[in-house]
Amino acid sequence: MTIRWLSSIDSTNSEALRHLEDYPSGTVLAAYEQTAGRGQRGNTWFTEPGKNLTFSIVLKFPEGCLPASGVHWLNYLISDAVASFLQEQGSVPQVKWPNDVYVGRKKICGVLIENILQGSSVAASVIGVGVNVNQIVFPQLANATSLALCTGKEMALEPALERLVALFEEHLPLLFDEKRRESLIESYSALLFQKGVRARYRDLLTGEEFSGVIEGVEADGRLRIREGKRLRYYRFKEVGYIL
Ligand code: BTN
Repeated sequence: MTIRWLSSIDSTNSEALRHLEDYPSGTVLAAYEQTAGRGQRGNTWFTEPGKNLTFSIVLKFPEGCLPASGVHWLNYLISDAVASFLQEQGSVPQVKWPNDVYVGRKKICGVLIENILQGSSVAASVIGVGVNVNQIVFPQLANATSLALCTGKEMALEPALERLVALFEEHLPLLFDEKRRESLIESYSALLFQKGVRARYRDLLTGEEFSGVIEGVEADGRLRIREGKRLRYYRFKEVGYIL
């Protein structure tokens, strides 16, 4: 993979999507400053310039190689890579399904994956990642933390990104190996926030609140929550945490 650092850009995801033809598969666009960082659900991703990792990985797939129904494997891969990176640095991350990374009850990383589909397969993916590294103060974000706040150490951004990208690259071949990629279910499930703990959730399709225990994820990307004898399965945006 090739990392390209930009001094300032609106959003690394927007830049990658705007000029997708110019960026070969495996390009990583990283920015010291994002002026219009984008988050999930149309939110803005705020981050102090020069303090954190904000980058997008461009991947392109030959036709039929990654079905649209398999995009969750990308999520498992990047969440695993971010978590491994944070563990190496001495923090204890968990993944709040589907792809927020938490330390304790605070968010340290967000992921925004945007896919270009061609028929029923994925032609390209832009995996946008924001990891809070050296930011200490988060105005108006009571829920945020950073590696520096968790470990008490600052870290240079360039080697941090190199290591994180190397971890992602190491496991990328699993994406195309149907048998071996099942191992990602285990590793990703093991990271899940509130796994094995009774907690309250909301079924976003019916509005119903219930108490259940997250058990893990399925090969098709669904989250499995046990409510007594009943197993509930949820896709992205179908269930919410009540914290
Ligand atoms: C979230 O809402 O949790 C997702 C945040 C994703 C932020 C990253 S920062 C790099 C990339 N470029 C963007 O504009 N967004 C993603």
